[in-house]
Amino acid sequence: MTATDGGRDLVRCVEVARTYGRGAAAVVAIHAMSCVVPPAARVAVTGPSGSGKSTLLHLLAGLDRPSAGTIEWPGLGGDPVDRPGTVGFVFQGPSLLPPLDVSENVELPLLLAGFAASEARERSSQALAMVDAVELAGRLPEELSGGQAQRVAVARVLACRPRLILADEPTGQLDAGHRDQVVRALIESAAHLGASLVVATHDVAVANQLSTQWQMRDGRLTCAEEPARVPHQAFYPVSDPGESC
Ligand SMILES: Nc1ncnc2c1ncn2[C@@H]1O[C@H](COP(=O)(O)OP(=O)(O)O)[C@@H](O)[C@H]1O
Ligand SMILES: [Mg+2]
Repeated sequence: MTATDGGRDLVRCVEVARTYGRGAAAVVAIHAMSCVVPPAARVAVTGPSGSGKSTLLHLLAGLDRPSAGTIEWPGLGGDPVDRPGTVGFVFQGPSLLPPLDVSENVELPLLLAGFAASEARERSSQALAMVDAVELAGRLPEELSGGQAQRVAVARVLACRPRLILADEPTGQLDAGHRDQVVRALIESAAHLGASLVVATHDVAVANQLSTQWQMRDGRLTCAEEPARVPHQAFYPVSDPGESC
């Protein structure tokens, strides 16, 4: 079985498009795009603001539905909407629940998934330590800086130990030290979990730490390539890799 075998790929998108609005107001965020997230993928999705990175990640997660084309999740056993916990999503904007403190925010998905309170607390502590946020455990979201909230949002995903981690600009508000720590936590967790990791980022320093680059422009994947400096890893194909590749 190859890395791109249909029975194991975590996500397969075929001619997927997403248009917001209708008629004269319609915005084509994603033009017909085909791509695959195989097992053990480490993908950076790069491109200017408005190029469709967030829309693509939402589609890969099953949080949004395409206007055309098909998305399948063979390696996850089906649609992630029906399989809570299989996909972890770090949102670009604020996502912590205001009435809950940091620990409770991280523990909540675990409690909803049926874990015992002690196990949820243990996993929460471990995940917060991975992003240097242990000292924030008792704070409310309104008492956090944007960067601190971003680190907690990453911890919440890592605590759930998903098989596919999608992170949308997870380091946009972090200083260089915490940026590197969060990226390391994402990569190490993905390796530990046997998960695939897809990170949308503006930051070249983040993208360079991932073995595959997907470049987006105007809703199109213009280039998908594996840097030459990372040999012996699977190439992740797209149907139209574009002339720049
Ligand atoms: N909910 C929405 N309604 C209308 N247009 C949207 C919506 N979300 C995104 N867009 C538009 O879709 C395009 C892609 O947006 P997005 O996926 O957020 O790009 P990126 O994450 O690369 O900045 C942009 O033109 C944006 O304005
Ligand atoms: Mg975005």
